[in-house]
Amino acid sequence: MTEEREELRSLVAAFRAHLEARGRSGTLGVPLAPSPRGGQPPASEEVAAAEPSGAALGAEGLRLVRETIGECTRCKLSGGRRHIVFGVGNPQAHLVFVGEAPGAEEDLQGEPFVGAAGQLLNRIIAACGFKREEVYICNIIKCRPPSNRNPEPDEVAACEPFLKQQLAALRPAVLVALGKFAAHALCGESTPITRLRGNLRSYQGIPVMPTYHPAFLLREPGRKREAWSDLQQVLALLRNSGLGPPA
Ligand code: URA
Ligand code: URA
Repeated sequence: MTEEREELRSLVAAFRAHLEARGRSGTLGVPLAPSPRGGQPPASEEVAAAEPSGAALGAEGLRLVRETIGECTRCKLSGGRRHIVFGVGNPQAHLVFVGEAPGAEEDLQGEPFVGAAGQLLNRIIAACGFKREEVYICNIIKCRPPSNRNPEPDEVAACEPFLKQQLAALRPAVLVALGKFAAHALCGESTPITRLRGNLRSYQGIPVMPTYHPAFLLREPGRKREAWSDLQQVLALLRNSGLGPPA
């Protein structure tokens, strides 16, 4: 079991004990079964999707991570934000998209990918055969950087523990890293996105497919073909594991 999952489990346990002490037991309906894999890394990480998220902490884990974030002031982005943009979608999703940081519209609405790039992401999700509400969408950074500037290393560092816990709660079969920042953060390498994309990596034992950011694809539509081929690999991975979109 990874350190983050241990941490999340102990958070859940502490929260449950807290509720029980207050006589509200039974409100956490999530079975906390041990991972069937027993913490072993996937046998062939490069070809198999992670196991189905039956052992994921799911909605309860996500709620707890969100609660831990609170009205965060851990980094300087808290000064300019309207909403913390935590994430949206299915807590049991097999497929999770991770973007960079909220933009203006996301900051206003408190939901990731609802602006122009989000419209393209919605089309990409639909083209994959999924509904937006069947997958899960979040960002590396939960608060909008001023004027949509690039996230700074201290901001990524401040937010990363929550992303880790969030992904430990979701435990998806596969992650898609959208753009340079997500790819670098999740793959742990700074290879240019043009070379990194299309090459499967892993994050905490979960396969990660780095690809272009939809905002980049809006500026350079000629690159959509490459992004689509990256997503075909993701779909093949899901299908091979019996987790593909409904036919
Ligand atoms: N770009 C991102 O990376 N994330 C969003 O939520 C919106 C735009
Ligand atoms: N630069 C990025 O940040 N993302 C892309 O997808 C392409 C270039």
